[in-house]
Amino acid sequence: MDIVSRTADYVKSKFYGEGSGHDWWHIHRVYETSLQIMEREHHDGVNKEVVALAALLHDIADWKFNNGDDEAGPSAAAEWLESQQASPSVIESVCKIIRHLSFKGAGVPTPMDNLEGKIVQDADRLDAIGAIGIARAFAYGGYKNREMFDSEILLQSHQTAAEYKAQQSTTVNHFYEKLLLLRDRMNTETGKKIAEERHHFMVQFLEQFFRESHDEACWHA
Ligand code: ADP
Ligand code: NI
Repeated sequence: MDIVSRTADYVKSKFYGEGSGHDWWHIHRVYETSLQIMEREHHDGVNKEVVALAALLHDIADWKFNNGDDEAGPSAAAEWLESQQASPSVIESVCKIIRHLSFKGAGVPTPMDNLEGKIVQDADRLDAIGAIGIARAFAYGGYKNREMFDSEILLQSHQTAAEYKAQQSTTVNHFYEKLLLLRDRMNTETGKKIAEERHHFMVQFLEQFFRESHDEACWHA
């Protein structure tokens, strides 16, 4: 078995059955989407092994540690890759990608200077938007015991999805602080195209969500 297959088995055994939005199928989709983007971008000299390993290992620290340490991911990935005798240059590239992958807030740039990283970052972000992104956000919100939305606000102000003003720590708020910003953060042309459709679906979902919440608010007024 090659190192990519061994890594897939390892990651699958760690993540299988996870319920917080970081399950094996998230990793699997990021892996498959990364390979698809790589094929469509037609760039010479992309290191396929680095793309595959970075996609498979990008969330490894979410299973192993949970202390908000930026180096937890890269060091867990390096430990595994060393145990598999990966070359030092592959280990270095994969760790660098994992280190720079995450969205760190609206105003915080997360530059990725290599094509392999741009591809995996796009694939990870695509999985946070669209129908699957919506499902993951509510799954994560439930896991963290978060409120979906504060309907009280609608009784006072009749804001629409487009007029939404931030509330604290509800899952709907997460769309405005992160998910709706991802479309404009895509690196590759392929990623941008897929993001466009998924973004549109989220906007429609929010409009409908607000409409239904307004109806409910009116009945109780
Ligand atoms: P990634 O896998 O892209 O590194 P994160 O670890 O930030 O993503 O989050 C995992 C999933 O949980 C994503 O789908 C993300 O949108 C969702 N999520 C993260 N923070 C929140 C939040 N505060 N409310 C709802 N969903 C969240
Ligand atoms: Ni991820």
